[in-house]
Amino acid sequence: MSIMIKTALICAGLGAAGVLALQAEPKPAQIKVQTPDKVTYAEHVAPILNKHCVSCHRPGDVAPFSLVGFDAAKKQHSMVASSTEAKRMPPWKAVEGYGEFKGENRLSPTEIAILKKWSLQNAARGDAKKEPPTPEFPKSEWSHGKPDRVIELPKPFELEAEGPDVYRNFVFDLGNTEDVYVKAMDVRPGNKQVVHHVIAYLDESGRSVELEKNSPDDQPGYSTSGGGVGIVPSGALGGWAPGVMVQETEPGVAFRIKPGTKVVVQVHYHKSGKPEKDQTKLALYYAKEKIERTREIFWAANPMFRIPAGAKAHPVSWTIPIPADVTVYTVMPHMHLLGKSMKAHIVTPQGSKVPLVWVDSWDFNWQLVYTLKSPLEVKRGSKLVIDAVYDNSKDNFNNPNNPPRAVTWGEQTTDEMALLVLGYSADSGGKMRRRG
Ligand code: HEC
Repeated sequence: MSIMIKTALICAGLGAAGVLALQAEPKPAQIKVQTPDKVTYAEHVAPILNKHCVSCHRPGDVAPFSLVGFDAAKKQHSMVASSTEAKRMPPWKAVEGYGEFKGENRLSPTEIAILKKWSLQNAARGDAKKEPPTPEFPKSEWSHGKPDRVIELPKPFELEAEGPDVYRNFVFDLGNTEDVYVKAMDVRPGNKQVVHHVIAYLDESGRSVELEKNSPDDQPGYSTSGGGVGIVPSGALGGWAPGVMVQETEPGVAFRIKPGTKVVVQVHYHKSGKPEKDQTKLALYYAKEKIERTREIFWAANPMFRIPAGAKAHPVSWTIPIPADVTVYTVMPHMHLLGKSMKAHIVTPQGSKVPLVWVDSWDFNWQLVYTLKSPLEVKRGSKLVIDAVYDNSKDNFNNPNNPPRAVTWGEQTTDEMALLVLGYSADSGGKMRRRG
């Protein structure tokens, strides 16, 4: 019985309404999974690993071990089975069937069952002649073609061997005297062992320059005590995480970088156990067509919440009226270490519900920007409804407070956030009011 039904029953005091709710609840579809009697690497497993895993699990890439070829895969067979069964891998967090996105990477129940059976049957190779060819990876520096502009850290950033993660913000000025329109961004981590993810913000205020100037160390960029960018960005070009494909904006739509606007590149570093250096590069692709609309970001935030100490599933919900006709392109849920799930939908002026995104097993380490498969037109008078759930109990292994304490909004990773970042353009130009 789902929690929802239980609650309905309890709320209705086991009365008629509760029983109705119970009957109305659709039964989860019985998922039929068929697997071959004898699962082999050559015929069944290699195609799954090649399609869903080796983009990251190959020598020299972000994942800690390779899954290319039989020997490498066999070595990890039980981990492969357990990580996929627990849905930790591949690290795609948006729930299937709730919004559709570009570049989705998740396994079907059949694929998960095949990997499990292969492991239980001791990871046989089968007929090596039937193995698919090893996938080829782009050899050129940039998978999206020759960039119009490359920006690179002035000198390598040095990272200590051990300690907490580092969020470093690097400030760039393109030196443009006219508006520049950006269609796509790509990132090439200088050191894939330590670069976890990258977000490129825009800062029209120029405050990031001050923060960099006042940085106490002599390394490039600046850090804030909370791990944030320390400014309210005026926009963002997007994010990069391992395995995320370059996404170009729709025809006629682009990000605008005005003269003087700073590009603030935040790199999230994981330490590797030995001292490391990184000199990450960013590629920008400029618009060749006429641009009619600019891409903006909207911070759909709720700073007014308090998560009591010990609460296992504390709900935080908020609704934001949409004040203009807009088109939504991307969604990015954001919480800190207590986050469990976030679900967002639009309610149209006519009252129908349109799903946006649902992350049901939030992982602070995998903060992805999800690009909608087709842009969503949202009419003025619609509402954006967001439901988040937090686990502030001591059973949450990620809880940074021991013993747990009541937590409210804040920049520190020990504080929390209730935020959904929307990438949109206003259909009649202009911007939505910023929230949060
Ligand atoms: C987007 C890049 C990416 C993809 C795709 C990916 N992995 Fe991973 N994987 C990682 C990284 C990075 C780690 C290191 C741990 C972490 O940061 O979560 C990891 C860790 C693991 C681990 C060890 C930790 C754990 O959670 O058990 C296993 C096993 C694993 N991956 C298996 C797989 C399999 C199987 C697939 C394909 C079905 C896959 N991965 C797809 C990036 C990826």
